[in-house]
Amino acid sequence: MDDAAELCRLNSAPGMTQAEFAEGLKGELAGGARFVALTRDTVIGTATVTLLGGGRWGIDGVWVKPLYRHQGLGRSLCAAILDHVKTRKGEAVTLSVNRRAWAALALYREMGFHVVESSGDESTMEKRL
Ligand SMILES: CC(C)(COP(=O)(O)OP(=O)(O)OC[C@H]1O[C@@H](n2cnc3c(N)ncnc32)[C@H](O)[C@@H]1OP(=O)(O)O)[C@@H](O)C(=O)NCCC(=O)NCCS
Repeated sequence: MDDAAELCRLNSAPGMTQAEFAEGLKGELAGGARFVALTRDTVIGTATVTLLGGGRWGIDGVWVKPLYRHQGLGRSLCAAILDHVKTRKGEAVTLSVNRRAWAALALYREMGFHVVESSGDESTMEKRL
């Protein structure tokens, strides 16, 4: 893990509450953050957010290890990102997603994102804060 990472360490089993997740260890990264879910020392989920400028932030690299999916970890990672952006008075969060990544699309819709543009296989989604 490089120094630029912001860590939320999950020391217990996945399925912990968002509040417990948010209480995880954190380190600051100017202009962005990487959230990493760990169980013991194994990475089981990641999500990165970067400052695009003008109050806009971009999400990238949302991933949960297959064995740990459907347990709320993706939602917790996205919630941690939204908290991070809200704390910094961000106005909008955007991301690009493959239109066939239906699990991701469902997750982002549930988190309040909506499609603002589609081109080829990719859709751009946005959530205004
Ligand atoms: C997308 C991904 C991160 C979701 O992670 P996850 O931990 O399984 O998601 P969660 O358990 O937090 O699910 C939260 C919500 O997302 C939606 N969702 C997640 N997986 C879903 C699926 N397979 N089918 C339908 N809805 C799904 C549901 O609304 C779910 O809420 P519910 O459990 O109350 O029904 C995971 O499937 C993944 O890593 N996929 C491959 C990488 C990828 O596509 N990343 C996105 C790049 S833009």
